Amino acid sequence: MAFKEVLVKDLRENPFTVLSDEWMLVSAGNESGFNMMTASWGYFGHMWNKNTAVTVLRPQRYTKEFVDKNDCFALSFYGGDKKIHGVCGSVSGRDTDKAASTGLIPVFSDGTVYFEQARLVFICKKIYAQRFDPACFIDSSIDGEFYPEKDYHIAYAGEIIKAYEKI
Ligand SMILES: Cc1cc2nc3c(=O)[nH]c(=O)nc-3n(C[C@H](O)[C@H](O)[C@H](O)COP(=O)(O)O)c2cc1C
Repeated sequence: MAFKEVLVKDLRENPFTVLSDEWMLVSAGNESGFNMMTASWGYFGHMWNKNTAVTVLRPQRYTKEFVDKNDCFALSFYGGDKKIHGVCGSVSGRDTDKAASTGLIPVFSDGTVYFEQARLVFICKKIYAQRFDPACFIDSSIDGEFYPEKDYHIAYAGEIIKAYEKI
């Protein structure tokens, strides 16, 4: 399967629907080791004069170890394939070979990894990371509703350095 590079500004995607309905994979690593997980929270936007994406990872995610160790991560979209997301969003790469379980074929590129089955890929270079601070919730109901275990997400902002679409 081949991909072509596209300009982010030429994309006609709705970030609200792709995140909340289609979901995405967050992936990082290289030929020596990689991991991926489903995510449906995050942001796409313009910040510090750069096209950016933010992914939010809870501290216990195995994927976080790969995002921490590498300069880049990838966000990729699969048209809402629920088999891929059923596996990648429910089991950990610590216990399961998720590529083998889903048939996802890794593509090592641009200092990170995504998968042949993707329809759309963003390559993100990490530029900022910060754990959500419970003291900063202006709507304090979010803390109780989403963080009963106090496992606050770490928000990773990446500069989108490349985007690819399936040909
Ligand atoms: C629809 C959906 C969305 C998810 N979104 C996130 C997310 O944005 N951040 C997060 O940390 N976990 C999210 N998860 C949970 C991870 O995908 C899940 O815990 C996964 O098994 C972690 O795998 P890992 O330990 O191999 O990294 C989501 C799961 C699903 C099913």
